[in-house]
Amino acid sequence: MTRPSLFFACLGYACEAARSAAKTIGADLVEASWKQFPDGEAYVRVAGAPEGVGVAVFTGFPEPSTRIVEGMLLIEALRGLGAASVVAAPLYLAYSRQDRRFLRGEPISIRAVLRALASAGAEALATIDIHKQYSLEWFPGPAANIDPSPVFAEALRPVVEEAELAYVIAPDKGALPRAKSLGEKLGLPFDHLEKHRDRVTGEITMKPKKLDAKGATIIIVDDIVSTGGTLAKAAKLLLDQGATRVYAAITHCLLVGNAVEKLEESGLEKLYCTNTVKPRWSKAEELDVGPLLARSVEGLIERLHGYEAEQQ
Ligand code: R5P
Repeated sequence: MTRPSLFFACLGYACEAARSAAKTIGADLVEASWKQFPDGEAYVRVAGAPEGVGVAVFTGFPEPSTRIVEGMLLIEALRGLGAASVVAAPLYLAYSRQDRRFLRGEPISIRAVLRALASAGAEALATIDIHKQYSLEWFPGPAANIDPSPVFAEALRPVVEEAELAYVIAPDKGALPRAKSLGEKLGLPFDHLEKHRDRVTGEITMKPKKLDAKGATIIIVDDIVSTGGTLAKAAKLLLDQGATRVYAAITHCLLVGNAVEKLEESGLEKLYCTNTVKPRWSKAEELDVGPLLARSVEGLIERLHGYEAEQQ
């Protein structure tokens, strides 16, 4: 079966990656207009759309709740215009960190968000580096989590070539698969930070579980930098332990509050981010995930049509 034609429809900042995705595979791009009503309600309009599968590209920051609702409205608008099917493409999927009931009475927020996107009319979903891969099982259709490590590897290769010794480090065990993926692409050892408590003073420090930071160029990898607390602490600790230079490769650079000040003070050399959200720091380099999105959507559409064929 040949792939049906597809087009990308985007909102606001997400149009940067959507434009690049469309260009990668020669698809059309439709930029939706949007505004907020005086009472705070969101409004979205797609003036017209070509035939085929519509890919609704939006993001989840700033104002995550509004961005999610706008994404739902974009999906609903594409359905109304007669799109053959709709793929939701939230570049940064907000609410993904609440993926469990940490306390009794809490919601599994990401499950509610994924169900809402599906009920708005999305039959498939592609997102970039969701906090936990297993969350996508709550989307009732084909879903893809795009690994951004190829774009980080390309940007960081010159840094690695200059270094005598280099490692990739995750700030916690949960982010170890990210360190593994980037480490393997760069041909570098990878590890994660582990907490140690001094039995005498009770002081807590963090250091790499297996590797020695001394004399090494270190690349910290994670999905999100929000308040900057985790990254600033990790960078500072590694420099205190003798690392020569510390870089970071973080997919979604939210940088809220005084995150930039914390990172400036931490001694971090440079921050590599993707264009899923707009990074607001002069030391942050924004890398384009559009081509990865395009290829992933193509694969999803094939799966979606296979999936549909099986249902008949
Ligand atoms: C946590 O599990 C995430 O992967 C990030 O490490 C965390 O969200 C970063 O948050 P912050 O920048 O506020 O420390």
